[in-house]
Amino acid sequence: MKRTHHCGELRSSDAGTRVVLNGWVHRRRDLGGLIFIDLRDREGITQLVVDPAATAAEQVNTAQLLHDEWVIAARGTVRQRPGTMVNPQLATGEIEVVVEALDVLNRAAPMPFHLDDTTVAEDIRLRYRYLEIRRSAIARNLRLRHRVAKLVRDFLDALGFVEIETPILSKSTPEGARDYLVPSRVHPGAFYALPQAPQQYKQLLMVAGIERYFQIARCFRDEDLRADRQPEFTQVDIEMSFVDQADVLSVSERMLAHIAREILDVEVPTPFPRLSYTEAMNRYGSDKPDVRFGLELADLSGALQKSSFRVFRRVLDTGGCVKAISPQGLSTASRRTLDAWAGEVAGFGAKGLASLRVETDGSVGGQAAKFLSEDEKRDILGITAAAPGDLILIVADTPKVVHAALGHLRRVIARDQGLISPDRFAFVWVVDFPLLEFDDENNRYVAVHHPFTSPRIEDVPFLDSTPEKVRAQAYDVVLNGVEIGGGSIRIHDPGMQARMFERLGISAEESEDRFGHLLTALKLGAPPHGGIALGFDRLVMLLAGAESIRDVIAFPKTTRAACLMTGSPAPVDAHQLEELHIRCTTGVDADSQ
Ligand code: AMO
Ligand code: AMP
Repeated sequence: MKRTHHCGELRSSDAGTRVVLNGWVHRRRDLGGLIFIDLRDREGITQLVVDPAATAAEQVNTAQLLHDEWVIAARGTVRQRPGTMVNPQLATGEIEVVVEALDVLNRAAPMPFHLDDTTVAEDIRLRYRYLEIRRSAIARNLRLRHRVAKLVRDFLDALGFVEIETPILSKSTPEGARDYLVPSRVHPGAFYALPQAPQQYKQLLMVAGIERYFQIARCFRDEDLRADRQPEFTQVDIEMSFVDQADVLSVSERMLAHIAREILDVEVPTPFPRLSYTEAMNRYGSDKPDVRFGLELADLSGALQKSSFRVFRRVLDTGGCVKAISPQGLSTASRRTLDAWAGEVAGFGAKGLASLRVETDGSVGGQAAKFLSEDEKRDILGITAAAPGDLILIVADTPKVVHAALGHLRRVIARDQGLISPDRFAFVWVVDFPLLEFDDENNRYVAVHHPFTSPRIEDVPFLDSTPEKVRAQAYDVVLNGVEIGGGSIRIHDPGMQARMFERLGISAEESEDRFGHLLTALKLGAPPHGGIALGFDRLVMLLAGAESIRDVIAFPKTTRAACLMTGSPAPVDAHQLEELHIRCTTGVDADSQ
């Protein structure tokens, strides 16, 4: 029985039509005489009726055998449901199909969970991921993902970009995470690295004269995982020649606005707002600010320079800062709430959370009031612009801790107080990142973005004297507080690239060994170039309104980088290891060797 329609399609105008439907038994209700079957395929659900008065006995017997998730084909005639039986929840709720013939295409063993059950533990759902996908939400996300990929391809194609695949068996690229390594059978002791990003290949394609490249590229990073990080993920990777930062930003934001228009029917104004890294940190305490709400940080350091409150004074005397956020109308927040917030900031290293309340008469009370002079309290009111009824929450520490703590707290409060309207899509560019940061652990400078990123030309003279002052031609695009992409204008001058490696403490031999191919290419006619990579999973997650990128990936891994469905990673045959010249010293395999 070849299907004629899908299960989301039939309406009352189809009454009288003979149809064949295929799908899964979503539910069967046996009302003694009549049997109702909700038949489901990927487009929806249609109610089938098996009426002993209208259906042959053999078919009625088959209908009685059906269980959840059996796969069937049904032929019948569409019938308008009586008024009282119309189900407005269902797109096909006006009709039902009166069954003439029924075929079982496949049986199903009892299901590990009912597909409608929302209480199933995540490890069970991941083990039976294909059943999880059969439930509509994930399947819907995967179809959305497909549409976004198609929009990306069509948009970039129209601008002359060429999609080019780059190797998966590749060489270690320094994107800041650990590599996944693949042992070579033919070259004993040598390893491929799975690409953390196609960074060097796309730069080499610019040297190759491609001018406009893109790829929906799989990337692999062995790093600590969380809701917005997977060990393998997808980037919309872009590179362009003869461009400056403004060109890359423009192409990217027009593409994102196009996607928002097509997918969400939302008009996002371009150009997106731009914030310098310094401004983002100062105002939002984060380089991926959620700008859908205020609660900006206010700097109280100046007003408290001479404070007699030893906690603040000690911090300020040792080069730290004192900053505050002042949520409106929360002056009556309970002790318990304040303690919970203190717990939140403690997680980011803050040693305390001082609070002030602005009383209805404008006077300042609260737990920290007794430590502050009248002048200081007045100045704090001025700086925070707090009004009667508002609360002021203060953290004193190094700028790093203060920003992380208050940057987190403002998001917690905004979420708890419902300050974020769910239908807002706030894109923002963060630009002028520092080029380098000092890595205390290894006692050397490391690249904030990656070592191929160009410094701002006017900052180059500071590369040796005050490296932390040098700004990069690097940018991130942030949507609703999530970093959805980042890129830079690259170094195309081989001398400058060598100088950069040197600045990063990579010796001439080591840079030749690891990046010789790139340094050589830069000497053979490299055009000025730059690009960006968008985190495709994160973008689709936000478009889908999902909480985790796992919800937009067909077969994701757990936070321990395992696939519960296939059971990977898994031990392999001793013979396979031998061929690869590998011996395990710990773990499941070691015992058998
Ligand atoms: P970057 O490392 O910033 O840049 O990565 C670009 C974007 O990829 C997404 N992303 C991830 N998504 C899911 N899981 C992960 N583990 C993960 N890691 C990163 C983020 C991020 O903004 N080659 C450069 C780009 C360039 O310079 O053109 C790069 O990879 O959304
Ligand atoms: P103490 O005298 O150390 O108990 O601190 C007095 C008050 O200041 C307490 O309510 C602390 O929560 C608060 N406090 C302590 N350290 C800090 C800090 N680094 N930043 C903000 N408030 C702090």
